[in-house]
Amino acid sequence: MPGLILALFLLVCVSAASQEKSQIVYRPPEVLEDAHFAESFDSGPLEGRWVLSQATREGEEEEEDDTAVKYDGIWAVEEPVEQVLPGNRGLVLKSAGRHHAISAPLLRAFHFLDQPLIVQYEVQFQQGMDCGGAYIKLLSQSEQLNLTRFSDTTPYSIMFGPDKCGEDHKLHFIFRHRNPLTGRYEERHARRPDWDLREYFTDRRAHLYTLRLYPDNSFEILIDQSVVSKGSLLEDMTPPVTPPREAPDPSDTKPTDWDDRQRIPDPSAIKPADWDEEAPRQIPDPAAQKPPGWLEQEPDFIPDTLAQRPQDWDEQIDGEWEAPLVPNPACKDAIGCGPWTPPMISNPAYKGKWKPPMIDNPNYQGQWQPRLIPNPGYFEDPHPFRMAPLGAVGLELWAQTAGVLFDNLLVCADMRLARRWTRLTWEQRLSAERALAPGVLVRLLSAAIQRPWLWGLYVFTVGLPIILFISFMWPDKRFGPPDQEYYYKKSDEPQPDDPLDSLGSHRSRTQGAGEPVGLWDETSGMTSKTTSDPKPEPRSRK
Ligand SMILES: *[C@@H]1O[C@H](CO)[C@@H](O)[C@H](O)[C@H]1NC(C)=O
Repeated sequence: MPGLILALFLLVCVSAASQEKSQIVYRPPEVLEDAHFAESFDSGPLEGRWVLSQATREGEEEEEDDTAVKYDGIWAVEEPVEQVLPGNRGLVLKSAGRHHAISAPLLRAFHFLDQPLIVQYEVQFQQGMDCGGAYIKLLSQSEQLNLTRFSDTTPYSIMFGPDKCGEDHKLHFIFRHRNPLTGRYEERHARRPDWDLREYFTDRRAHLYTLRLYPDNSFEILIDQSVVSKGSLLEDMTPPVTPPREAPDPSDTKPTDWDDRQRIPDPSAIKPADWDEEAPRQIPDPAAQKPPGWLEQEPDFIPDTLAQRPQDWDEQIDGEWEAPLVPNPACKDAIGCGPWTPPMISNPAYKGKWKPPMIDNPNYQGQWQPRLIPNPGYFEDPHPFRMAPLGAVGLELWAQTAGVLFDNLLVCADMRLARRWTRLTWEQRLSAERALAPGVLVRLLSAAIQRPWLWGLYVFTVGLPIILFISFMWPDKRFGPPDQEYYYKKSDEPQPDDPLDSLGSHRSRTQGAGEPVGLWDETSGMTSKTTSDPKPEPRSRK
């Protein structure tokens, strides 16, 4: 019976899903005139709007060889491999292990004034990601900005988005802050979100990354419309925008008599009179005794009595002839031969060189630090939000795994506009995914295939209530007293007037379904429970 219900439920889920699938049609988002940039990659080829970089990478400019690493990675506008919205296309990074760079000018430059900046786009690691980035750069507007030459050295105001190598999962938010004293731009990094980012790189699904910057210097970072990190450009970046007020004095030097020894040998300690520095580390074991049967008089080797002086031996030239040595046969069965020496043991009287014990140095002055003076590089910038204006968006990426799909890139200054774009793009996809989502059962099954321990959980959560339910509804009477009539219903032995035999057709209908069948017992006049199992366990075997 539960099996039947499950099967029916599955059937309903699958048919509902396949019905809705045929109704899904992609509606490309309308053109948002007020956005600084809005790209859904649905209208025609990249040419005209996007510019492929012709640049060489920094340091590789001087290579003689024309084929030296350039941004030769291929970009394509195409549909995702697993499509939920037929017709919806994105920008795909195609070449594993190569450098890619592509950029597009904003419709109009973004100036950091009194409106927020909202940047959002979708990334889908269609093949997962071993090592590689999927961040965007918002390039600083300037006279020199030439997208044909977009490279890793092109000045940007903001870098934002996911990046991963090995087990290091990152979501960058870096901005370049102009030091008002030096005029130089310095990178400021937001601290890592306290959020496990692994799944966004591994689940192969599209995710929406959003950065919101406000004129009050606060920022928010969202993934799939949930805030994963927020903070302030003044408080939460490293290194901090505002330098420390004081700095070590470079002209200060450590005094020669500065005592920075934390511990010293105790000067008052004296070597004890009985301390013998000469006592050896090891001595012959005084308790050892020569084993009986040790033949101290017998050498281990003796001259070979059978050996003869060679014929051509000349004592004048070769010296006196000596027979070669052979193992002494007397030692063959003896425990040992030759001089016996006791084994060495560690000397209990050994002390080694005497050293005075260490004590805390009473004159310890601590680690020396130069004195602090007012930091000559100190400045206050109350408005780090006011960055260099944005002129273009750029993707300058290397990835070990290809197939990274980008979609629905938006840069704007209006929250309502961003919400509309999200509704038109991201949420359209979400509702399509929801409609296509496999039934609950299918999802539970596929989850268990990935994490087999879930089976145990399923069996427990599903099985326990069923067992409880059955045992409450039909208390097992198998353990009733055997002198009662219903006892025989559980046994194989044929019983006189067995109602099952007279109800042959009923029996065959229910066989195999494992369903309890209530039977009217003619002899005892009560309803007893039995199962249609053709071989119930007789009680006597228990
Ligand atoms: C941009 O750079 C390319 C390649 O160096 C050059 O051919 C082109 O003239 C430049 N464009 C402008 C507007 O400077």
